[in-house]
Amino acid sequence: MKREIRTAVFPVAGRGTRFLPATKASPKEMLPVVDKPLIQYAVEEALAAGAERLVFITGASKRAIEDHFDSDQELEKLLEAQGKSDLLRQVRSVLPSYATCIYIRQSAPLGLGHAVLCAEAAVGQEPFFVHLADDLIDAREPCLKQMAATYAFHRGSVLGVEDVPRRDTEKYGIVECESPRLPVSRIRSIVEKPKPAVAPSTLAVVGRYVLTPAIFDYLRQIGRGAGGEIQLTDGIARLLGSEAVYAHRFEGKRFDCGSKLGYLQATVEHALAHPELKSAFRAYLLKLAKDLGKAPARRAKAPARRGK
Ligand code: UTP
Repeated sequence: MKREIRTAVFPVAGRGTRFLPATKASPKEMLPVVDKPLIQYAVEEALAAGAERLVFITGASKRAIEDHFDSDQELEKLLEAQGKSDLLRQVRSVLPSYATCIYIRQSAPLGLGHAVLCAEAAVGQEPFFVHLADDLIDAREPCLKQMAATYAFHRGSVLGVEDVPRRDTEKYGIVECESPRLPVSRIRSIVEKPKPAVAPSTLAVVGRYVLTPAIFDYLRQIGRGAGGEIQLTDGIARLLGSEAVYAHRFEGKRFDCGSKLGYLQATVEHALAHPELKSAFRAYLLKLAKDLGKAPARRAKAPARRGK
């Protein structure tokens, strides 16, 4: 297979403040969804899309990510001695042998745009993926693979987008497209976290990008934007002036694992699909739902008894 996009960049240098204290000493990207950390889902998606060079932009407390993708001889020996061949196979297959990992330290969390700029030397003059591990996307065809096909057709940068409720535009980069109803459309403008009243649309950029290397020049030029950070959105806004950039409504279900609610939803739905857990977990959820359904009725009766 010809690998057109060989490099995937994983910015993992944010502090994950919404998950404190869990993320004080351990990265948000190592939070497990059932039995795999978010960053492993991310790497698997990028490998499925053809990436073979994995560039992690790391910050404080990110050692666990390096350890996760390194081999662990001691653990492998232990599992071998205990005859746990299934687990041994899983531990060994965390990363295929053709993939290489590069770790680059972002000196301070100056923003997603700055994190991507840190990858410039490792990426070189080639198109590349950017994958934000806290957006977990379940899809029949991995999301980055869908977007790589769009890149191959249009030869321009591609942003993964989905419709969000208007009240949520303040949480995302929002795009205005030439043909917003089409699955793939050229972007006219992009703005970071607009207020609902002034957002140009409700099409939000989620954590998947195919970018051309021209982005690096613009990221170097822009200063701090929203929230005092160097915003990837601002770099893309400049890129739009010189190249066509496309919005791709991917097929799949996204979980915002950067928020507690989204993370819990991902955990529940993955547990319901997990081969070892699904029956027992489903039975548990059904019982819980039944008990929860009864609970308000019991509470409603209590005051009446007290009033007698
Ligand atoms: P978020 O906006 O989710 O920020 O970053 P965060 O720090 O991870 O989490 P909260 O909001 O404090 O809870 C989006 C992505 O960009 C990366 C993060 O690691 C995450 O994958 N990022 C953000 C960096 O790598 N460096 C930065 O300076 C900022």
